[in-house]
Amino acid sequence: MPKVYFVGCGPGDPDLITIKAKKIIQKADVVVYSGSLIPTQILNFCKKAKLHDASKLVREEIFEILKQNAKKNKIVVRLHDGDPSIYGAIKEQIDNLQPEGIESEVVPGVTSFLASAAALGMQLTLPGVTQTIIITRAESRTKVPKEEKISELAKHKATMIFYLSVHLIPKIVKQAIEGGYATLTPVAVVYRASWNDQKIITGTLTDITKKVRDEKITRTAIIIIGDVIQPKSYEYSKLYDKTFSHGFRKAKIKLQ
Ligand SMILES: C[S@@+](CC[C@H](N)C(=O)[O-])C[C@H]1O[C@@H](n2cnc3c(N)ncnc32)[C@H](O)[C@@H]1O
Repeated sequence: MPKVYFVGCGPGDPDLITIKAKKIIQKADVVVYSGSLIPTQILNFCKKAKLHDASKLVREEIFEILKQNAKKNKIVVRLHDGDPSIYGAIKEQIDNLQPEGIESEVVPGVTSFLASAAALGMQLTLPGVTQTIIITRAESRTKVPKEEKISELAKHKATMIFYLSVHLIPKIVKQAIEGGYATLTPVAVVYRASWNDQKIITGTLTDITKKVRDEKITRTAIIIIGDVIQPKSYEYSKLYDKTFSHGFRKAKIKLQ
């Protein structure tokens, strides 16, 4: 059956690609890739593939390249930055291929918010602080449902992650405070996480806008808001507690 592989190639560092993704890219006949966010080193894994830069194509042209080549039983790869399921527009591609009898296989990748957390050396959930991560974006040309207004999501005071939004940071700050975050809640912005020119900016809801503007960062960044970045206090995990039993280990000390 003709097939298209939707492959996530990770956040930038070519070493962060999965072995599975690399093997598929190496044997590909055709690769349609997401413009500037795919590093040259990863495109260099192609041994014979004809390359198409999706940033120069419209949707219908991409569909045609995928379809025509899959129907010729070529190994066709649609290469996405990070993970294809996160702001990657794969459903419209999969749904367009399916009626033509073309199968799709998705290969996951390391998404940029995880590379950002790694760059910060941080844990996104902490006992005693939050057990929840909210991933979203600020509204711009793409509308966000009103139930997902930043000020509504902010009411949870969980860890919030923003994609595609660094140019709108003043709006994010305003709505995060309206929603209930304290003005001194820590914020981190990671620009081009895992690339050689990665930049990390840390601050609070009060000063992050100025710091981001001073660094002239307007794109390709993840914003993280939450006390987990610099918690005043937190609890140790239960899993490794000597009083805690689980399926693989009995408690070393019994609670009185
Ligand atoms: C269209 S989305 C694609 C996201 C991608 N599928 C992923 O999983 O990371 C593009 C947005 O992802 C974020 N992004 C992608 N690569 C990044 C990186 N290396 N560092 C920081 N943010 C990145 C930025 O917010 C950028 O505006």
